[in-house]
Amino acid sequence: MINVDPSRRVFSGMRSSGWLHIGHYHGVIKNWIQLQREYECFFFVADWHGLTTMYQTPSAINDISLEMVVDWLAAGLNPGASPIFLQSAVPQHAELHLLLSMITPVSWLERCPTYKEQQEKIIDRDLSTYGFLGYPLLQTADMLLYKAGNIPVGQDQVPHIEISRSIARRFNFLYGREPDFEEALESAQKKMGKKVAELYGRLRNQYKEKGDIEALETAKVLVKEQQNLTMNDQERLLGGLEGEGRSILPEPQALLTPNAKLPGLDGQKMSKSYHNTIALREEPDSVVKKIKGMMTDPARVRRNDPGNPDLCPVWSFHLLYSSEDTQQWVQNGCRSADIGCIDCKKPLAESINHALDPMRIRVKELQNDIGFVRQVLSDGAEKAREEAESTLEEVRNVMGLGRIY
Ligand code: TRP
Ligand code: SF4
Repeated sequence: MINVDPSRRVFSGMRSSGWLHIGHYHGVIKNWIQLQREYECFFFVADWHGLTTMYQTPSAINDISLEMVVDWLAAGLNPGASPIFLQSAVPQHAELHLLLSMITPVSWLERCPTYKEQQEKIIDRDLSTYGFLGYPLLQTADMLLYKAGNIPVGQDQVPHIEISRSIARRFNFLYGREPDFEEALESAQKKMGKKVAELYGRLRNQYKEKGDIEALETAKVLVKEQQNLTMNDQERLLGGLEGEGRSILPEPQALLTPNAKLPGLDGQKMSKSYHNTIALREEPDSVVKKIKGMMTDPARVRRNDPGNPDLCPVWSFHLLYSSEDTQQWVQNGCRSADIGCIDCKKPLAESINHALDPMRIRVKELQNDIGFVRQVLSDGAEKAREEAESTLEEVRNVMGLGRIY
């Protein structure tokens, strides 16, 4: 069994959907790169999740997934620091998904807000499948397999994290129970020494009787600090805080990514399905054209109407891409109508192109050395399978499904 500290572990991924855009870069990838420095991270492409909406053209998935990884690497994600892999290369995701499906009430999935929303929003595809209903459950399996405590995601994914917490709790309740749990807990407690054991007992009661979350968190830290405990005892002590058994699949938590700083070209959320994005690998001419066509402060109808950058998506772009001098120039020029929107957009397109240059070069390099990208994925998958299999072995064991042949 691999010893995992869930609080040190980060797990995240993206559904195969296509080229990365600069919204992904500022909203997701930059954050991942930072997390790579602070946590033990795993990043994956959820190609099976992609299949839930793309099952009519499945052969496109492989290309899309590979190009997505090209973009991640071009953007600076470091494969030396954390495994990067495809979901479909780790069949354990499918097995855990299946085992968890046995204990997941259908109503939990039907009630999931993303399920209803997507069914209403996406009308050009048939989403009345079993696979699509199970989307959050497959995601649950993804996260629980790696015992990751921290899942960096946007607000839209929070319902999925919530479901995964409920499922983990249910799993631990059903299969983490030991016949002599209370005695086992008591003896584990004794091993911590009298003082610490008393503190543990007090914090546990505070949580159980009053629902004091702070006490729960303090107690968790306390247990993790105990160096002389076996893994099983530690799990008993952690499990004993919230339930009646060992915590086999720890509950993950959302590590909320701050709201998008970059709107789309039309001022809505930047998203491929709204056709309002700039891709990381967008050609320079196309960047210029797209910026030219960007929406501006709607109140600025004529050239000599003063504008308000706060109401203009172009300004949000300046904030991320332009120097302070240029920003000052925009603020003064826009509010006094000294500059027109065409003037304002010109240096912006230039600085975006300047920022994208090295990534475009990296994309080309990686495309010419696609063997390297494949190697990254196969190394990543190997490491991921090791971790996943270790968890799955535990899962099979506590369920009494150890191999009989
Ligand atoms: N549902 C996520 C999205 O659409 C992708 C995803 C699948 C994921 N499994 C995950 C994200 C596990 C984080 C952790 O972006
Ligand atoms: Fe927007 Fe710039 Fe035009 Fe002002 S001048 S409305 S900031 S594009």
